[in-house]
Order: sequence, then C-alpha cells, then structure tokens
Amino acid sequence: MAGLSPAASEVNLKNILVTGGAGFIGSNFVRYLLEVEPNIHIFNLDALTYAGSLENLKDLPDSKRHTFIQGDICDRTLVEDLLRRHQIDTVIHFAAESHVDRSILGPAPFIQTNVVGTFALLDAASQVWLREGNASAEGPRFHHISTDEVYGSLGPGDPPFSEVTPYAPNSPYAATKAASDQLVRAYGHTYGLPFTLTNCSNNYGPYQFPEKLIPLMILNALQGKPLPVYGDGMQVRDWLYVVDHCEAVHLVLRKGRLGETYNIGGNNQPANLEIVQEICAILDELVPYSAHRPHAKLVQMVADRPGHDRRYGMDINKIQTELGWKPRHDTANGLRDTVKWYLAHRAWIETILSRREYNQWVDQNYGERGVKE
Ligand code: NAD
Ligand code: DAU
Repeated sequence: MAGLSPAASEVNLKNILVTGGAGFIGSNFVRYLLEVEPNIHIFNLDALTYAGSLENLKDLPDSKRHTFIQGDICDRTLVEDLLRRHQIDTVIHFAAESHVDRSILGPAPFIQTNVVGTFALLDAASQVWLREGNASAEGPRFHHISTDEVYGSLGPGDPPFSEVTPYAPNSPYAATKAASDQLVRAYGHTYGLPFTLTNCSNNYGPYQFPEKLIPLMILNALQGKPLPVYGDGMQVRDWLYVVDHCEAVHLVLRKGRLGETYNIGGNNQPANLEIVQEICAILDELVPYSAHRPHAKLVQMVADRPGHDRRYGMDINKIQTELGWKPRHDTANGLRDTVKWYLAHRAWIETILSRREYNQWVDQNYGERGVKE
C-alpha cells in the first residue's frame, strides 16, 4: 500500500476521537480505554440518535479526560475542526446505523451514516493529517470498526470467515458496512492514510440497546412479554462479550500493523433458540419469585427476517497469533453477567423503554410479525 509502513511495536496514544461513543460498544470502549490508558484524552463525537444515550456515559472513570460533542460524522466542517483543534492522533470510528431489521425497513439512514459519514471522516482525516501535515510525529491512525456480516452467510460445513474471505454482504446494513470498509482500504491505498480495520462478530453485554436479540429477550422476559424468535431459531451467531471486543480493539491500536484487517470473534456459536433458552434459565434462577417463571414459556416463534443470514463464524487465528488476543468470556459466564447487569440497572432500562421512538419501533417490527402480548 502506498506510503504505509508497519506500526512501531507499541504506539503511544494521546488525543483520541471516538465516533459513536454514546452507543453500546462505543460507550463500553470509552470506559475501557479511560481505565487502561491513563494519559489519553477522549473526544467523543456522537449524534445521539435513538441508539445513543448520555445515560451510557454516566459512570466513566476519570471523566475529566472525556469530552462529549454532540454532532454528526457527516458534518465535514465539524470533524475537520475537531481534528485540528484537539490535535487528534487517533480516530476510532464506531458510529453507524447498526440494526439489521431497521435497515430492512428503512435503508436510507444506513447509506447516509455508514457510507457518506465514513467518507466524510476519511476525507477530513486525509485533509488535516496528510494534506496539511497536521499530524503527530509518531504518525496518526484511523481505526475502522466493522462487522462479520460483510462476509455473508456460512453453510453448515463451511469453514469460518477469515480476513481473506471475499465480501458478500446480504442485508442493506451489511452492504453499507462493506462499502465503508472498502472506502477505508481505498484511502489507505490511494492516499496513504494510515489505517487498521477490525471485523467483529455479534457483541452483547452492558448498555446494549434492547432492539438486539439478547437485551430484548431479557427485558421482554422480565415484563412477561413474548420472546419473538425469528424463523426456526436455528440461525447461528458468534457471540462475543463486549469487553473482550474492547480489549481486542485496544491491542490492534497499540500493536496492530498498519493497513491490516483483523477478525475478532467469540468462539461461541450456539443457535438463537439456545441463547434465548439460556437467558430464560438464568432469569428463572436469578428472579425466583417472578410471576413469569418458567420464562421459556414466553418464547414465540414468529415470521423470519427477510434474507436472514443463517450462520456466522469467525476465524480468529490472525489476531491470536500476531497480537496474542483471545476472548476471556464464553456465553455461559458472559450471559449471566449481562442478565445481572440489566437486573441491577432498572433506571437505565426505564429511561430507554419510556422513549416513544422505541415503542414505535417495537410496534412496527413485531406488529407486522403478528406478535401478540
Ligand atoms: P449502536 O447502534 O449501539 O451505536 C451507534 C452509535 O452511533 C449511537 O450512539 C449513535 O447515536 C451514533 N451515531 C449514529 N449515526 C451517527 C452519526 N451520523 N453521527 C454521529 N454519531 C452517530 O451500535 P453498536 O452496536 O455499538 O455498534 C458500534 C459499531 O460496531 C458499528 O460500527 C457496528 O457496525 C459495529 N459492530 C457492531 C456489532 C454488534 O454486535 N453490535 C458487531 C460488530 C460490529
Ligand atoms: O454479526 C455482527 C452484527 O451483529 C453487527 O454488525 C450488528 O450491528 C448487530 O446488530 C448484530 O446483527 P444481528 O442481526 O446478528 O443481531 P440481532 O441481535 O438483531 O439478531 C441476532 C439474531 O437473533 C439474528 O439471527 C436475528 C435473531 N433475532 C433477532 C431479534 C431482534 C430474533 O430471532 N428475534 C428478534 O427479535
């Protein structure tokens, strides 16, 4: 790649721009990075869409090293100004429209944020770092957060996705993430923008917005509502506890080679129905006086997601052998910790569930599937 060279063995991080840091993974990452990096300052740019919330950033350690900016990544002037004014040396780009079902019902915001927004960030970084030469002596870095969904769907006997698996995105969401990955590569190849890229599997854990499978099931079960499982429930995802993802991204930032992609996954591949049943069993145990026990009786098989990918699985050999990362949690302990977190954060749940936008989404997505309470 033009102008790219391997990173030094350990990179010094200083002024970081995190995009989407009020969302699920972004807020976990901000919290994690403040804990493990005592000398950095994080500038957190987030538009606070339905998926973002300042509630996710309330308990930050050493919060004076965190500055929140409400704004859109598509706002090129704002992004350039942040890069220059705060002498940003590292961009970590989480901001995205991230929910597959929403992308099926309305793809336009996905094109705007995931494609146009990523382009705006890349071009602003190229302007400030490369064309104006406004970069730290050690060299800047653009880290792009992506997904396993860019690789498409696996058949039952297929080997897991590796970094050289051809892209074959199936949903509008996956297609926009694939486009953003390709733009990142193109900016590295053509202009020499120093980048790293990670493709990760399904995350779960604290602060996940309850439109995604695991928090939706926990919250519905607690309220005695139906647990809607799409199709036959035998679809497989490679579940990863969110803190493990944060650790992996941090390692790539510090030691990953520029211009490289690393796959991240959980080595956890139960079918959706098994995950839901496991959550129900944990709730039966942790909430023994619930009127809704056994929670598994709330499971309702519903109409499938159009174009539903059958199976994902990540080959994590590269990040394991090069950087020494592997997941610390399996679904047994990760799910238990997650259920406990939601049980202990009723106020957070109330705030999210009371939003009109959330309830409209539930009616739109599940009403059409004939889910009855
Ligand atoms: P999320 O939906 O919880 O959070 C997205 C955040 O981005 C929100 O805070 C939102 O306000 C912000 N945002 C959206 N549009 C914006 C814009 N135009 N400008 C500024 N901010 C904007 O998403 P997540 O689950 O935390 O995912 C974060 C990233 O990780 C995404 O890029 C996603 O593709 C990727 N990813 C997610 C998973 C997963 O399982 N959740 C797995 C692999 C990769
Ligand atoms: O694979 C990584 C991707 O994981 C990320 O890139 C996405 O941002 C993230 O949203 C997630 O996508 P999924 O579509 O896999 O996640 P979701 O939680 O929406 O669904 C997980 C599985 O559960 C999927 O097979 C669909 C199924 N499902 C989901 C919901 C919301 C149900 O059966 N019922 C439901 O109500």
